[in-house]
Amino acid sequence: MNASPADPRPLQVRDLRAMKRRGEKISSLTAYDASFGALIDQTGVDAILVGDSLGMVIQGHASTLPVSIADMVYHSRIVSAARRRALVIADMPFASYATQEQALDTAARLLREGSAHMVKLEGPKPGVIRFLTEQGVAVCGHLGLQPQSVHLLGGYKIQGRGETAARRILDDALLIEQAGAECLVLECVPAALGAAVAKQLEIPVIGIGAGPDCDGQVLVLYDMLGISAGAQPRFSKNFLTAAGGIAAAIRHYHEAVKTRQFPGPEHSY
Ligand code: KIV
Repeated sequence: MNASPADPRPLQVRDLRAMKRRGEKISSLTAYDASFGALIDQTGVDAILVGDSLGMVIQGHASTLPVSIADMVYHSRIVSAARRRALVIADMPFASYATQEQALDTAARLLREGSAHMVKLEGPKPGVIRFLTEQGVAVCGHLGLQPQSVHLLGGYKIQGRGETAARRILDDALLIEQAGAECLVLECVPAALGAAVAKQLEIPVIGIGAGPDCDGQVLVLYDMLGISAGAQPRFSKNFLTAAGGIAAAIRHYHEAVKTRQFPGPEHSY
């Protein structure tokens, strides 16, 4: 498969739903700076997530909680400057969307100053999501493992195990879709639940540790290059070792997602 996209025009938010409808897997990676942003964009990856994981992989914190709105705006701006085709999705950091008004202030900064196309927020917050979409903001939900709630969750653990927990995630996903979200990130849940959520929703479900049947995949760039400190999560894969170079590793990841070779059973729960 040629890594360059067949259609090089800049992607629009609505293209994600069109990709789901035609059964094309969505590839996504995190980036936090212009150089990696450009490399990822040139490879044809569909969405660049300026994740608040930058708190861990860039800033060296033990969690995403210390990341500020100013940090997110800065990293979003420098990634967006390098973007030609991919959609740029920026994370709303911890405690920056507790009310509708606060959420709009944060989203406005990420869109205006950070030039993001979409914002992502964790948890079932249909009221906030509806309000943002009514103001014209494209929103990506985030369910399953929600890193901003790490202390409540008692660690970075698989979520949605067992019938009740799985049902709850499925119900929350529907609420998020009904509230107007454009897509949903689903993190660290059993593959069967990832498949069920993707089947139930019309909006694309982008998995990270949620099995091969999600509509797309996202990984933390530094995990897939094997340069994150600490243990590699089971759901990630080091693409750099086999590829021998960073650009080739990103291309291999993109191709593996598009051709459904990643994630394999060894990366799923
Ligand atoms: O912050 C981030 O990188 C994320 C991904 C783990 C999906 O939210």
